[in-house]
Amino acid sequence: MIDKKQLDSNNIPRHIAIIMDGNGRWAKKKGLFRAAGHEKGTKAVREVVEGSAEIGIKHLTLYAFSTENWNRPKLEVDTLMKLLVSSLKKEIKTLQENNIQLNAIGNLQNLPKKARVELMEVIEKTKSNDHMVLTLALSYGSREELIKTIEEISIKVKNGVISPHLINEAVINEHLYTKNLPDVDLLIRTSGEQRISNFLLWQIAYAELYFTEILWPDFRRTDLFEAILNYQKRERRFGKTSEQLS
Ligand code: FPP
Repeated sequence: MIDKKQLDSNNIPRHIAIIMDGNGRWAKKKGLFRAAGHEKGTKAVREVVEGSAEIGIKHLTLYAFSTENWNRPKLEVDTLMKLLVSSLKKEIKTLQENNIQLNAIGNLQNLPKKARVELMEVIEKTKSNDHMVLTLALSYGSREELIKTIEEISIKVKNGVISPHLINEAVINEHLYTKNLPDVDLLIRTSGEQRISNFLLWQIAYAELYFTEILWPDFRRTDLFEAILNYQKRERRFGKTSEQLS
C-alpha cells in the first residue's frame, strides 16, 4: 500500500482527470443491481476528492456522466441523476471543510432541473474556496465541446470580432468548457479498459495515461497515490529530447 509520504511533493500533478469506470461490473460480480455499483462509486469519489486535497492537487476532474450515457436505460439515468442530487446535498460539507470549489463542465442544460439547481447552488456556495477545484463532467462529450467551440469562434469571425489568422491555442482554450482549467497532467481510467471515450480530447494532448484493473467502487486514495507515484517515475518530454530537458 502506497503512503502519501512516498510521493515527491515537488512533482505533484497540477490537474488529474479520472474516467470512473466499472460500477456496473462491480455490482454484477456481487450479484447486485447496477445502481448499487453507482452508489458505492460515490464512496470512491469522496476518497479521491479527500485524497487529492490532502496532497495538494489543484485540479481534479471527474467524468461523472457522458453525453453518450443518456442512451442508457431510463431507470439507470434516473438513478445517476438522483445520486448526483443526493451526493451534492451530502458532500457540500466535505467541500467546505476541505476548502474545495465545485465546478462543472458539459452541456448542463440537458440535466434535469432538480440536478441543475442543486449543482448551481453548490457551485455558488463554494465559489470562494481556493484549496482545490473539483470539476464534475456532466452530460459532457469532448466532440460536442469542440463543435460548440468551433461554432462560437465561427460566429465571432463572421461578425469581425476575431480574425481567422489570429486563431491559436489560446483562442480555442477560451471557448472550451474548461477555459479556467490548466491542461491535464495525469489521466486515470479504472476497470481495465484502455480508451478515452470522448473525454477531454484537446486537454489531454500531453497528459500521462494511467490504466488500472481496479473497478471504480473499489478505488481508494492509496490507489490514487500509486497512480501519482507511477506518474512521478515518468519523464515528460513535451516533444523534446531527454538531453534538452536536463
Ligand atoms: C461507469 O461505470 C460510471 C458511470 C457511468 C457513472 C459514474 C458515477 C459515479 C461514480 C457515481 C456518481 C458520481 C457523482 C459525482 C455523484 P459503468 O456503469 O460504465 O460500469 P461498467 O462499465 O462496469 O458497466
